[in-house]
Amino acid sequence: MLLSGLRLLPLLPLAWVGGVDGRAVDTVAAAKVESRQQQNIVTWDDKSLMINGERLMIFSAEVHPFRLPVTSLWLDVLQKIKAMGYTCVSFYIDWFLLEGKQGEFRAEGIFDLEPFFEAAKQAGLYLLARPGPYINAEVAGGGFPGWLQRVQGRLRTNDAAYLEATANYSANIGRIIAEAQITNGGPVILYQPENEYQSYLEGYEFPDYEYWENVDRQFRDAGIVVPSINNEAHMNAYITTSTPASVDIYGHDSYPLGFDCFNPTVWPEDGLPTDWLELNNQIAPDSPYALVEFQGGGFQPPGGAGFEACSQLLNHEFERVIYKNNYAVGATIFNIYMTFGGTNWGNLGHAEGYSSYDYGAQITEERLVYREKYSEMKLQANFFHVSPAYLVADRFNSSLEWTDNEAITVTPAITDTTKFYIARHTQYDSTETVPYRLKVQTVGFGDLTVPQLSDSLYLTRRDSKIHVSDYLVGDKNLVYSTAEIFTWKKYSDKTVLVVYGGPDEHHELAVEGRGSDDDEVVEGSDVTVEQRDGYTILGWAVSPERKVVRVHGDLYIYLLERNEAYNFWVPPEPAQVGTSSVIVKAGYLIRTVEVDDATLSFVGDVNATTTIEVIGGAPEKLETLNFNGRSLPFEQDERGVVTATVEFRKPRFKLPSCSRLKWKKIDALPELQPDYSDDAWTVADLKETPNTAFPDLRTPTSLYAGDYGYHTRTLIYRGHFTANGGESTFFIQTQGGMAFGSSVWLDDKFIGSFVGDSTWESTNANSTYELPALEKGRQYVFTVVIDNMGLNNNYVIPEEKQKIPRGILDYELEGHPKSDISWKLTGNLGGENYLDKDRGPLNEGGLFIERQGYHLPVAPTKYWDYSKGPTEGLTKPGIVYYATSFDLNLPTGYDIPISFEFVNTTAVAYRAQIFVNGYQFGTYVNHIGPQSRYPVPQGILNYHGTNYLGVTLWAMEEGGAKVEGFEIRVGTVTATGYGNIEMAPTPAWKRREGAY
Ligand SMILES: *[C@@H]1O[C@H](CO)[C@@H](O)[C@H](O)[C@H]1NC(C)=O
Ligand SMILES: *[C@@H]1O[C@H](CO)[C@@H](O)[C@H](O)[C@H]1NC(C)=O
Repeated sequence: MLLSGLRLLPLLPLAWVGGVDGRAVDTVAAAKVESRQQQNIVTWDDKSLMINGERLMIFSAEVHPFRLPVTSLWLDVLQKIKAMGYTCVSFYIDWFLLEGKQGEFRAEGIFDLEPFFEAAKQAGLYLLARPGPYINAEVAGGGFPGWLQRVQGRLRTNDAAYLEATANYSANIGRIIAEAQITNGGPVILYQPENEYQSYLEGYEFPDYEYWENVDRQFRDAGIVVPSINNEAHMNAYITTSTPASVDIYGHDSYPLGFDCFNPTVWPEDGLPTDWLELNNQIAPDSPYALVEFQGGGFQPPGGAGFEACSQLLNHEFERVIYKNNYAVGATIFNIYMTFGGTNWGNLGHAEGYSSYDYGAQITEERLVYREKYSEMKLQANFFHVSPAYLVADRFNSSLEWTDNEAITVTPAITDTTKFYIARHTQYDSTETVPYRLKVQTVGFGDLTVPQLSDSLYLTRRDSKIHVSDYLVGDKNLVYSTAEIFTWKKYSDKTVLVVYGGPDEHHELAVEGRGSDDDEVVEGSDVTVEQRDGYTILGWAVSPERKVVRVHGDLYIYLLERNEAYNFWVPPEPAQVGTSSVIVKAGYLIRTVEVDDATLSFVGDVNATTTIEVIGGAPEKLETLNFNGRSLPFEQDERGVVTATVEFRKPRFKLPSCSRLKWKKIDALPELQPDYSDDAWTVADLKETPNTAFPDLRTPTSLYAGDYGYHTRTLIYRGHFTANGGESTFFIQTQGGMAFGSSVWLDDKFIGSFVGDSTWESTNANSTYELPALEKGRQYVFTVVIDNMGLNNNYVIPEEKQKIPRGILDYELEGHPKSDISWKLTGNLGGENYLDKDRGPLNEGGLFIERQGYHLPVAPTKYWDYSKGPTEGLTKPGIVYYATSFDLNLPTGYDIPISFEFVNTTAVAYRAQIFVNGYQFGTYVNHIGPQSRYPVPQGILNYHGTNYLGVTLWAMEEGGAKVEGFEIRVGTVTATGYGNIEMAPTPAWKRREGAY
């Protein structure tokens, strides 16, 4: 990147922006943009991105492939995104999963990005690559591998040791991204270095331009040429298009409603951003308005309200009010975080989250699309496919001057022809129904006040609308429409326009020109048609009864209630970026359509018997109508509209009941047995810690697990000492992150647990335990089990939170110097030399059964004891492992979401992990929650074969614990046209060399 020429450019003064004559790109800015372009396929100006010279609304969905470890399901998710009308997907890459051992970059199998790129091409979506190296993303370490805890430099700074540590990853992942760029025929059009480079400690010189340039240079050196984009957490303008270290396109993120999902109807006061237009014009007048992460749901901590509640807080009303405010600002790069959240399987999450990363997003963790926010988004995203004027409109501040009611604020967006008026409640979270009249400008008829056939428009609770004037629909001009536009298509013999409104609202739509003799209300009633001088007005009250009106000979207008509009789709053709010309009413999901001579072929999903109705785009004399490869009987009327019925047959299948399965069990804490040998364990012998952020040890040798290469889940320590007979207490400070817990035994005797809670204080615990009388001169051993909830993120620079250690921080055995105890420890077998290359570096922790690989299929269970399973439980503190196998033979052609649920829970303190075919797909903390149901996708579960299920149970208190109920559940079943789902690799158990 050439920077030298840019240094002298000052920020443009604020006075330059706004104003009635709009934003002109000055020539300096234009030249500057040109000099930054390293290729000529993806270009941009102040308004929008262009691909091969064509402007495109970047309607982008955040998806993390690593949160769905079944590569053949990626296309399923991307098709569901594409079906909403998105044009792009943004994805983070998690360095921790790809370079668990320093120097060994591995992106194969479930970590291979090739199938993701292929799926994006298949679905017809562009990609924004976000490789970090720092991503935050609520993943362990914010994406930093555990070994970075030992790096001799400050993270996310220009310190040489840090930059060197990133070099291998950046070169490798940079090359992978580079090969998938649009310049090489791939889907990648944008890339974001770093992430939310934003928060810093007082006294630290920020931003560090050299650091930024180095991060960018590593990726550029690997061959990335597409434009870079910044994602500032707030609009602080640290790295912009004109700072000494710069990006091509400035962008920021925002989560305006916050994360208080406990109060899902409460929108924060002043939650609506209103100064963005001015700020962005000041910060980056030469790049399109980019919201690189915009709230699509909310993350949740342990003990939180759960994601269903978040999906209510961040619901369809939130999308209407808040997203339309983004359109008012002129966002043309708009990425929604998350659109599909997925699962923090295999310990990939950070401590402040839990297994589900559903996020309350448009698509659920089970990949279902029933949330109303999914349908609302489809209405919004499709509008931009048919409203190119939006991308070039001049932007203005919102004002009251466009309405007669101060309770309504309107933001105009204006071109020479089309104008948009984005109306919202002045008090953005109002739940009132407010009447208003709107002033619209027209080229042909001057200023008009609408409605003209009724007193008022109405804005109901938490709504916002995009009204238009001089809006082109093919060769027709809508003088204005107060109803919102879903889509329109022009065909050789007719034009079809679909508009919608909320229940009981009055709407009007005026078409330029004189009515014709053929004009008629084709369907429905109560539409007023009035001829004015030069245009025809339609007026109607929105009702569940749909109305279809034919005006000016060949324009068919569908006037729908919004809930009815939800059933309409403008499906894409396979591998096409745009939409097809087909408009179809169907039910649950239409994935794709192919139109071929006299054949129309849909691929989709239904959750009930569904009428499909093709209102535009069917071949004139349709001969064959296929749905999911099956030919359907159909009718085609004289207007060319095709109707047919897709039958939904409830599939018949049986799922096993967990309580009836044959379970085996094995003690998962043999360390407590007198003859247990820890000879093979790692000796905690480091007198100093390599951890530069926490250098002051309070123990004679370091007991930071990360210093010895252990970063994932259960950590176990063994402390040997010789008693002097005077001991009566043992103090220990353990640390495992939010909601962690620890238990301590002396030989086989339980001496106590810190069970944990979800407060910020309890990321570590100081525990003092009573000891039984010890025999002088005898050897004893403490066994300490610690639940590492995942390494912290590293948000604030250079706070070094990723380096916050896990393990034992301090201890005191009464009557002994600390050096009287000699410690050993273990985590997962091999530590950073992890064994299971297929499931990755984080999937297993340090429990005996994990070290032995007993969580893997075909573990040698025949030598174990019979058991009733997890509901049998333990009568005293300890850890036990239950395993079973079951066969599934589920019908094909259906999507049958399966999950495992802990039911009838009591307040007893215990922790559990679920393993399915060797993949850890759930960590359960009974006394903290909130998650109790754990979805496991097909591809991890074998739907046509044998499955191996394992559950660990860690009873933390006197009296033990049992799982009250553990069940296999089935979610909403759909009949699907989605193809085969291949299993993720599930290599079986093999005797592990050197396992202890
Ligand atoms: C089918 O899905 C839609 C959402 O797309 C939902 O509103 C409806 O209730 C579902 N029907 C059944 C029978 O599950
Ligand atoms: C435990 O003690 C240490 C040292 O006094 C202190 O820094 C830490 O905050 C304590 N932890 C808790 C959870 O109180």
